[in-house]
Amino acid sequence: GETIVIDTDPGQDDAVALLLAFASPELDLKAVTTVAGNVPLALTTANALRIRELAGREDVPVHAGADRPLLFPLSTAEFVCGPDGLAGADLPPARGKASSIHAVDALIAILRAAPDNSVTLCPLGPLTNLALAFRLAPDVLPKVKRIVLMGGALALGNITPAAEFNVHVDPHAAAIVFGCGRPIVMFGLGVTHQAIASHEQVARLLTLGNAVGRVVHGMLTRPRPGGLGTAGHPMHDPCVIAFLLWPELFSGRDCCVEVETGDGPLRGRTTIDWSGRLKRPANAHVVASVEADALFQRLFDRLATLP
Ligand code: BDR
Ligand code: CA
Repeated sequence: GETIVIDTDPGQDDAVALLLAFASPELDLKAVTTVAGNVPLALTTANALRIRELAGREDVPVHAGADRPLLFPLSTAEFVCGPDGLAGADLPPARGKASSIHAVDALIAILRAAPDNSVTLCPLGPLTNLALAFRLAPDVLPKVKRIVLMGGALALGNITPAAEFNVHVDPHAAAIVFGCGRPIVMFGLGVTHQAIASHEQVARLLTLGNAVGRVVHGMLTRPRPGGLGTAGHPMHDPCVIAFLLWPELFSGRDCCVEVETGDGPLRGRTTIDWSGRLKRPANAHVVASVEADALFQRLFDRLATLP
């Protein structure tokens, strides 16, 4: 199977992505690393532990990482995720604890121990931990097979008109990752806003007959915060894991992607040269479409295999 590390800031859609990975025997999930993003680090770490326990996967270590972006102050998204980051999930507090090893040290150790070109990194939040690892230990870069990430936008943003949340929170880290030279697959809002489950599909979650189905149903039916312009809760982050399993459901294009790091109105904008005007080498495969019905059918089939 593919060796992966998930770097995450749960967040409901992060939680679904984790559950999909936990349910997928094709993936060799070495660790879950957490970062401040949707909510502060103590909560994203606690939520990763809660989801790990829900899935019965205490064998996978959880490492807490950066508690703030590289340069900017942390900005969070409780208005989307609720005060604890997992509104609607109805989960008990975590019993287990995170590892005493920092996420950045864990990433470096996992990569150093791996053969060249063998580890897929799956960042689902701000890119702070990856940027720190690449700066602290550039020798690990050849170990990275690819980085499949949720971040950026081909068109409009969500947290601002220009920017998607993960890149907006830590644009300097995103600039480091997009400039790292390893293969990148980018899931921006253009594709993830297509990943919205229909009412029929959401209702199916209650028929799965397991705790995971009930928890995910609760998260997908929680009240919608106003103003984000979509008809349901987009499953941004699960697209990353789904792509590892079912790449045939997605299509996109190799492009040059640049990140705006200034603190003006364009902060965190990903400028994507979709038409190749700049004649610069592509640094990312930008995914632009997904077969959403098939995605949710397969995703919920997988969730049915969990406790
Ligand atoms: C991204 O921001 C977070 O709120 C979600 O978990 C997702 O990773 C979408 O912009
Ligand atoms: Ca996320």
